[in-house]
Amino acid sequence: MDRREFLKKAALGAAALAATGLLGHTAVAAAKEKSNTKKENVMKKIMIIDGGPRRNMNTASMLQKFAEGAQSAGGDVEVKTVRLYDLDYKGCISCLACKLKGKASNVCKFKDALTPVLEDIAGADGLALGSPNYFGEVTGQMRAFLERLAFPWLSYNDYSITAPKRMPVVLVETQNGTKERNNCNGYGTMEHCIRQALGEPEKLFAYNTYQVKNYDRYELAGFDEEAKRKYREEHWEEDLQAAFDAGRRMAEMAKGR
Ligand SMILES: Cc1cc2nc3c(=O)[nH]c(=O)nc-3n(C[C@H](O)[C@H](O)[C@H](O)COP(=O)(O)O)c2cc1C
Repeated sequence: MDRREFLKKAALGAAALAATGLLGHTAVAAAKEKSNTKKENVMKKIMIIDGGPRRNMNTASMLQKFAEGAQSAGGDVEVKTVRLYDLDYKGCISCLACKLKGKASNVCKFKDALTPVLEDIAGADGLALGSPNYFGEVTGQMRAFLERLAFPWLSYNDYSITAPKRMPVVLVETQNGTKERNNCNGYGTMEHCIRQALGEPEKLFAYNTYQVKNYDRYELAGFDEEAKRKYREEHWEEDLQAAFDAGRRMAEMAKGR
């Protein structure tokens, strides 16, 4: 077969393929392969969940520094902060939709403002949670969020705890108590679920926080404001720096995943 004949046959072959739709499929397959290669450079995502009610106080400041640290690593890392107190959602309502036969899911199926957050976390490359210590635990909002996050992870068949994806986790908690004297149970029993499902969490505690900006205005005589101010002057920058460093480390880990 000479060259002209070959080219003619090749063109006819392509036309036949196009007519059967096969060429389309080949093109789709090639595009898919290309997009799969592209996936390797896909943005990594770090989710920060702020479970405190106050926008600019201790917990929010620690998480803000964490976010800055994560952003400082540069590269393709998206850092997203969600403020739970801005969302209208419930804790687990025991619908058991996540345990339905044939439809079991390790992401909560109940639809409300938390749904996109839980879906984001399922595909994330790192997670940071932050809460003030409320009565030795986390806030009610954080607890309700954790119920929705962790109940779908738990299998009632074999009691295994499995998240859609393992990822580095940082747990932040701020509190009035000092390092030596505190009632902090951290994230309580939820910490076990987090450890099993996502991996060993790194914990960051900020102690002896300044609860209000002006102690003179409130009935807070049980606190020695001067001692608190002194502690803050000596430790707060360190606490913020620890949060920044943890954010940076997480982003570096995310980039390497
Ligand atoms: C409802 C409530 C309960 C608290 N319970 C505790 C507690 O049990 N132990 C503690 O050390 N601090 C407790 N605190 C103090 C806060 O944990 C602390 O001031 C924290 O840093 C506040 O965080 P924020 O500035 O982000 O709101 C409580 C504060 C509130 C409002």
